Amino acid sequence: MEFVSNKSLKEHNTFGVDVSAKKFVAVHSVEALKSVLKKTYASEIFILGGGSNMLLTQNIDATVVHIDLKGKEIVRETDETAVVCAQAGENWHQFVMWCLEKGFGGLENLSFIPGNVGTAPIQNIGAYGVELKDSFLECEAINIQTLERRIFTAAECKFGYRNSIFKNELKGQYIIVNVTFSLSKKNHQLNTSYGSIDSALEEEGIQNPTIKDVSNAVIKIRKAKLPDPKILGNSGSFFKNPVISAEAFSILQNKFPEIPFYNISANEIKIPAGWLIEHAGYKGFRNGDAGVHKNQALVLVNYGEATGGQILNLSKEIISEVKRKYQIVLEPEVNIF
Ligand code: EPU
Repeated sequence: MEFVSNKSLKEHNTFGVDVSAKKFVAVHSVEALKSVLKKTYASEIFILGGGSNMLLTQNIDATVVHIDLKGKEIVRETDETAVVCAQAGENWHQFVMWCLEKGFGGLENLSFIPGNVGTAPIQNIGAYGVELKDSFLECEAINIQTLERRIFTAAECKFGYRNSIFKNELKGQYIIVNVTFSLSKKNHQLNTSYGSIDSALEEEGIQNPTIKDVSNAVIKIRKAKLPDPKILGNSGSFFKNPVISAEAFSILQNKFPEIPFYNISANEIKIPAGWLIEHAGYKGFRNGDAGVHKNQALVLVNYGEATGGQILNLSKEIISEVKRKYQIVLEPEVNIF
């Protein structure tokens, strides 16, 4: 295990922001992780997975522990289902592709999401009508203070929209080391209801899609709308889609009749933040190297040399302009440090 001092994290966050870590260590086994935790005060540890949902605005005066645990396996299977487990450092998309190659369904709509397996449950990643929680069985995590191992069931994770217990009560207390999913081997529950998937399949002339077809459609849509972090630094959606009351929505709809919305419950309406940002005039906006993506206003981008602070300032400007125009306060979806 090698500790590196003053290590640049540019390659370790998908925004491509150049901040440095006082110390950096990559761990390849749970034993190595425990040994680092034993040697270091919990307050001096900063956990880094794929760095895909994080905006770093300052140098990190701590030991950055990069979780690089690898491995994926079929734990058990019946004729109908397969239970698979992946270690936290596995790349999410490669894991999804591995499941699809084996003919296991459930994660196809979550294809091509940047990041690692171990950080996926923290924000309950979701796309095109499916969330991680729909196939999640359990995850194993290590308590940073006591080094005890704990299994979290789906109920214990308290999953919500881009949310879980790991972002709330247990924030910073556990490190997820592996995640287990229950997937289908036949009678796959395809979810193609999200408008653009249906049309992408139609364009290809596919009438009875397989799980691989759905995955290909998702990849095509994501490539068209969302920038590839290897080419243009970004962290996916920067903000959450806000949920407002039916009463607040009816006032808003009177003023902006064309506003898109999704009914969540009798009194909750979700509004696409991308629409609010676009109609506040920010789609394609650029200030220095910090900008708003031209194809998806919910995605902030780094054209090269933007600092985390500059991206953060842009996000604050957007929050205040959206608030002024629509009386809605956008909340960041990414973790800001
Ligand atoms: N829209 C605009 N202008 C824009 C972008 C969006 O008007 O520039 C409006 C359109 O009405 C569009 C609607 O917003 O129909 C929805 O847009 P889109 O399908 O792109 O989805 P989203 O709500 O902006 C969410 C997730 C994405 C996920 C997609 C597809 C959040 C915060 N984001 O975005 O997740 O891929 O749905 O399911 O919920 C991520 O979390 O990083 C992420 C990319």
